[in-house]
Amino acid sequence: MVCEYFATVARGLEAIAATEIESLGGKNLRTEVGGVGFEGDRALLYRVNLRSRLAFRILMPIAEFPCRDRAMLYQEVQRIDWSQYLTPDRTLAVNATGGNDRLNHTHYTALEVKNAIVDAQREEFGKRSSVDITDPDLLVNIYVRGDRAVLSLDSSGTSLHRRGYRPAVGLAPLKETLAAALLDMADYRGDVAFLDPLCGSGTLPLEASLKALNIAPGLFRDRFAFMKWTDFDRELWQQLKQTALAEQKTALPAPIWGSDRDPKVVSHALENARNCGVSGKVRFWHSELEDIEAPSDRGIIICNPPYGERLGKVRELGELYRKLGDVFKQRFKGWKAYVLTGNKKLAKQIGLRSSRRIPVYNGALPCVFSEYELY
Ligand SMILES: C[S@@+](CC[C@H](N)C(=O)[O-])C[C@H]1O[C@@H](n2cnc3c(N)ncnc32)[C@H](O)[C@@H]1O
Repeated sequence: MVCEYFATVARGLEAIAATEIESLGGKNLRTEVGGVGFEGDRALLYRVNLRSRLAFRILMPIAEFPCRDRAMLYQEVQRIDWSQYLTPDRTLAVNATGGNDRLNHTHYTALEVKNAIVDAQREEFGKRSSVDITDPDLLVNIYVRGDRAVLSLDSSGTSLHRRGYRPAVGLAPLKETLAAALLDMADYRGDVAFLDPLCGSGTLPLEASLKALNIAPGLFRDRFAFMKWTDFDRELWQQLKQTALAEQKTALPAPIWGSDRDPKVVSHALENARNCGVSGKVRFWHSELEDIEAPSDRGIIICNPPYGERLGKVRELGELYRKLGDVFKQRFKGWKAYVLTGNKKLAKQIGLRSSRRIPVYNGALPCVFSEYELY
């Protein structure tokens, strides 16, 4: 049966997420701010959860309706036949996003949806589901925009950027989904050398290794919300996992390196690499940026230096950005370098002409991802 789905993604990543979902088999793609709508069968829903490197959650919309205020919301949610998704012995949680001038507090919007569902259950069965916000049997998502709302079942549960391989993080780690998106924007396909000389807990080199080895990021998770749905097809899920495992490469086509001045974060990167099963494949070491030499004739550097929001002070950081430019220019001829920063003034300190500048959000912070071709 073909259903409609909606993948939520970070702002600015909609177009590359659409390309990814299409490559996984999604049909009739439609991008919107913050997500990509697509169609497909249940196997596709499972496959996108298992393999997407960019999506946060895959939602399955079950109703769209006019929704100006709480009364309308309650009435429309009660119209849905909840017994097909949820019996009173199973638990429930509701997440709300968006809003309008009368539904302007997501907590109360979620509460109203929960009330409508459990009141409908009480009328039908004389009893109701309990709420379990940490591990519900059914996770419902309500999205309000203007005077309309979309009600969906959330098939992912915990956001997919939490791959499960990274309990150890430094002070300002990139989300795994953003790291994967930067690799896509740099057109990294695993066939050239990769280096992050400011690697922190190793998110960029580790996501590069998963991509280069064709390792599905969902293989590290043992829980997805769809596993508790009444129609969960365990056999289909096992088949999709087996296919993903069979398609993994055993050796990296080109080397992947990460280094950082802070030995503590390097130890985190090493631990995360062990969790990913790539510790013998990706090399991490402890080094000052100014001591780095190009480990091969050509390759791709991607890094996100501190930009004064969470780490370091802007004035001191100017020196780091100047050094980055000098190291690129003097030691990495033949390479392409990419820098993600949320501070335009600091980016200028690199002192090299960028060949591309892509606007990207790191959480809520507007950033720029700049490309430098090093001749
Ligand atoms: C924003 S963090 C990178 C986070 C990383 N992408 C992650 O996901 O964990 C910047 C890193 O640059 C490192 N760093 C700052 N100055 C450095 C220098 N001069 N040489 C080497 N590393 C440096 C810091 O130790 C920090 O780990």
